[in-house]
Amino acid sequence: MKDLFDPWMILAYIFPAYATNGAPVLFVRLSKNTHPLDRRALFFDGKRILGDGKTLEGLISGLAAGILSGFIISSLQAFLYRSFLEFVLLSIGAAVGDIFGSFIKRRIGIKRGGAAPLLDQLGFLFFSITTAWSIMGPPSWVNELSIIFLIFLTFFLHLGTNAAAYLIGLKEKWY
Ligand code: CTP
Ligand code: MG
Repeated sequence: MKDLFDPWMILAYIFPAYATNGAPVLFVRLSKNTHPLDRRALFFDGKRILGDGKTLEGLISGLAAGILSGFIISSLQAFLYRSFLEFVLLSIGAAVGDIFGSFIKRRIGIKRGGAAPLLDQLGFLFFSITTAWSIMGPPSWVNELSIIFLIFLTFFLHLGTNAAAYLIGLKEKWY
C-alpha cells in the first residue's frame, strides 16, 4: 500500500472527527432550547457531571455531521476508509472523547468553558483514533510522521477554528 506521507489524505481521513467536534458550536447556537446530557445532575464531588457545554443537541448534530462528512469524503475518495464503520467509529470516538474531556475538567474544578490546554485540543482526537484503530487496526498508510502531523494539525486547527468562531461571534471564548 501507499507509504508516502500525504497531508491531504490525513486531513480527509480525520475530517469526520473534526466535524463531530465543530458542528455543535453552530447547531447549538441555532437551537431554541437545549438539553444538557447530564440532566443537570451533580457528581459525588458536588460538581456537575458534565456541565451545560455538553448537550443532547450537540451530541446528535456532531455525530450527524461527522457521519455525513464521512459518506461525502468516501464518495470522493474511494478506499480512504476501509468501510463506513471506520468514519462512524472516528465520529463516535470524537464525541465520546469530548464528553469525557468535560467530565475530567469538572472533576479537577475547571468550569464549563474554562481552558484545559492540550485536553481541549487533542482529547477528542486521541479518543477518535483509539476507538477506530482498536477495532479496525491503524490504516496501512499510517506511519509515525503521519501521527505527528495529525497531532500538530489538530492542535493548531482547533485553536484557529475556535479563534475564528470567537471573532464571528459564535463562541464566547477564543480558545
Ligand atoms: N456543545 C454541545 N454539546 C456537545 C458538544 C458541544 O452543546 N456534546 C456545544 C456547547 O454549546 C459548547 C460548544 O459546543 O459550549 C463548544 O464545545 P466545547 O468547547 O467542547 O464546550 P465548552 O463550553 O468549552 O465546555 P467544557 O468546559 O465542558 O469543555
Ligand atoms: Mg471549550
